Amino acid sequence: MQNVTIFDHPLIKHKITLLRDKNTGTKDFRTLIEEIATLMGYEALRDLPLDTVEIETPICKTVQPTVSGKKLAIVPILRAGLGMVNGILALVPSAKVGHIGMYRDETTHIPHEYYCKLPENIDERLIIVLDPMLATGGSAVDAITLIKKRGGKNIKFMSIIAAPEGIKALTEAHPDVEVYCGNVDERLNENAYIVPGLGDAGDRIFGTK
Ligand code: PRP
Ligand code: URA
Repeated sequence: MQNVTIFDHPLIKHKITLLRDKNTGTKDFRTLIEEIATLMGYEALRDLPLDTVEIETPICKTVQPTVSGKKLAIVPILRAGLGMVNGILALVPSAKVGHIGMYRDETTHIPHEYYCKLPENIDERLIIVLDPMLATGGSAVDAITLIKKRGGKNIKFMSIIAAPEGIKALTEAHPDVEVYCGNVDERLNENAYIVPGLGDAGDRIFGTK
């Protein structure tokens, strides 16, 4: 599918299996979310814009490529997206971080926005939106709509587990956005949870259930 990358790296597959296991506790769950975000981020940041910098080697002065945090914004969707932030910052420590707060109504599964703070000059940045779960796609679609309303243009979305329904909704609503998924699962259940999935990502990261 155009604009969708599904990872097939054995390390990512292995770590997602550990994430899914209901016996994986909060501490290991958090570590795994971060590690998978780093592994996926390495590929998602392949076309990261570069600046140049003059440095001096032991041999001579030279102008060389450098990553500029000014050109990048990481935007987790609260709460669960927060778990992926440090994994990406491990790759690009100077990146600016915005936040979008969304929660799904438990009955209708419709997302509601409750917070939005983005780095300045958002229109000039490569924006990486993070959420480990892409279920119906409602939260990702609305978060990206909001970022675009604030001027965001160059947007990528990273999720660790996606349902086919979520990928369809996201690519139809935002065909310009590059989507990265650690795995595509079978389907959604009657409560709009991903099957087999990993349960409620926010609750498992923060130990709230
Ligand atoms: C979860 C998850 C996504 C959303 C995915 O968040 O982190 O944001 O559901 O579902 P969707 O694709 O159907 O919109 P939730 O609403 O449970 O909020 P939380 O992260 O605060 O627990
Ligand atoms: N949100 C989650 O955390 N898990 C799901 O399976 C679906 C939405």
